[in-house]
Amino acid sequence: MRLDQFIASTTPLSRKEAKRAITRGRVIVNGRACRQVSTHISTDARVALDDHLLTLPGERYLMLNKPEGVVSATTDSDHPTALDLLPTSLRHGLHIAGRLDADTTGLLLLTSDGQWSHRVTSPRVKCPKTYRVTLCDPVTEGALQQLRDGIELRNDPKPTKPAEVRWLNDYEIELTIAEGRYHQVKRMLAATGNRVSALHRSRIGTIELDSTLAPGAFRELTEAEIDSIA
Ligand code: URA
Repeated sequence: MRLDQFIASTTPLSRKEAKRAITRGRVIVNGRACRQVSTHISTDARVALDDHLLTLPGERYLMLNKPEGVVSATTDSDHPTALDLLPTSLRHGLHIAGRLDADTTGLLLLTSDGQWSHRVTSPRVKCPKTYRVTLCDPVTEGALQQLRDGIELRNDPKPTKPAEVRWLNDYEIELTIAEGRYHQVKRMLAATGNRVSALHRSRIGTIELDSTLAPGAFRELTEAEIDSIA
């Protein structure tokens, strides 16, 4: 984790205030003043702000390969939830950073760190999400162009922001969007006159779904993956 991120998650300081505190020499790392905001903080580092030792927050960050039929919720009496797929010892305090519909599969991020998940989901941060979209009817050139230009959704006054679209074959496209409207991908394709038959999220920002994770399996994020959500 970067020093400024560490300070922002262990103190009430914002990321900007943390950077200022670091550059002003208020932060001591392993006994020495450290003015470099991007310094990498290892898990055994001793970090102090104004002579107060800061303890590592013990935040957790996981990726899960969400199977079909599992709901993106922490509790649901009728359906299995993403949290039900984790061992009980890991579940406490985790929440989902960016939900998926029950019938959507793929990359789901879970964390105990509210600031981090806010950066994943906030429309202001514009963290891109990439989906493999399987369609009921062959995709047309016109539809690809509509998605790239931005498209009007039913019951939504604002058109979508221009999306990145990659044609994979007649029935499949890869779509990257940085908004998170309700059922957005399905509604975008519906607005082109098509229908989504399967939806799979493969990437959030630069975090790729680990291809070694079977549906239902999870792993902790690496430090590089955690830091990539900035
Ligand atoms: N868009 C959708 O329509 N469904 C999802 O699960 C994610 C994005």
